[in-house]
Amino acid sequence: MKATAPGKIILFGEHAVVYNRPALAVPVEQVHVDVDVLDANEPGVWIHAPVINLQAELSTLPSDHPIGSVILKVFQHLGISTFPNISIIINSTIPVAAGLGSGAAVSVALVRALSSFMSLSLTNEQVNQLVFEIEKLHHGTPSGIDNTVITYNMPVYYMKDKPIETFRSGKPFTIVVGDTGIPAPTKESVGDVRRLWLRDSNRFEVIFNEIAQISLIARRSIESGRPEMLGELMDHNHEFLQQMTVSSPELDVLVYAARKAGALGAKLSGGGRGGNMIALVDPALAESVAEGLMSAGAKRTIITEIK
Ligand code: MEV
Repeated sequence: MKATAPGKIILFGEHAVVYNRPALAVPVEQVHVDVDVLDANEPGVWIHAPVINLQAELSTLPSDHPIGSVILKVFQHLGISTFPNISIIINSTIPVAAGLGSGAAVSVALVRALSSFMSLSLTNEQVNQLVFEIEKLHHGTPSGIDNTVITYNMPVYYMKDKPIETFRSGKPFTIVVGDTGIPAPTKESVGDVRRLWLRDSNRFEVIFNEIAQISLIARRSIESGRPEMLGELMDHNHEFLQQMTVSSPELDVLVYAARKAGALGAKLSGGGRGGNMIALVDPALAESVAEGLMSAGAKRTIITEIK
């Protein structure tokens, strides 16, 4: 039984979304996780995840293992106490700890492949809820945006504890993603922002409100077919992320390189400190902006069209 889940990027509103402000995220299908569940000839739940060099039987893994714990949680949720004899094969092209949602994508694909193997069909809402529970095990205080955009595989305008709103763009636009290659677990930057917010909540609340405005205007610009407006909004959002201390010299170098190469705007995307940045580009300039990013030190780039 096969299932696949895309990567994601946050267009606007990361971090502020943890504090109940709106954020916009879109799936990135150029990178994905594929999970295949097959009957096994030998007893046990066998996990093969070549990208992280994992080949093990479930019961030999520590209970907090990032993949083992997801599988246990899924069995528990599905009410399965006698584990089947299966092989679970996990392949992923989403870089880990890069802000592209690799953890949430592994969970979504695992939940879908395991539940279909057991002939249990889960709604998107059920998948999303279960993956959010898993995200909380690994990430402390996630907003839920990553699991939502990856489960629904559509652009989302997300606010914590509010009904999910998906949206469509009035006109396609092109984003170049640049990876610093520096692994940056979201949990750490989210924890640091929380400490700073506790120390100076007035200042941070003002920043979060500004970002909320940016997300609102960005959604309107996208839906009304004026994506060129997003460039300036990205630049502003990046400044606020710098003030929140979640940028880094490497991210800033890539953001400035993208603008210099002709991007309409650029910002870090996701948890920050490392991981990815994104730039809005005229499609005709996408390749040269990607080249500019590589010359400035990016480890890889992805060109994606948001429809
Ligand atoms: C991570 O993709 C986005 C953050 O806002 C964290 C979260 O929303 O859980 C940094």
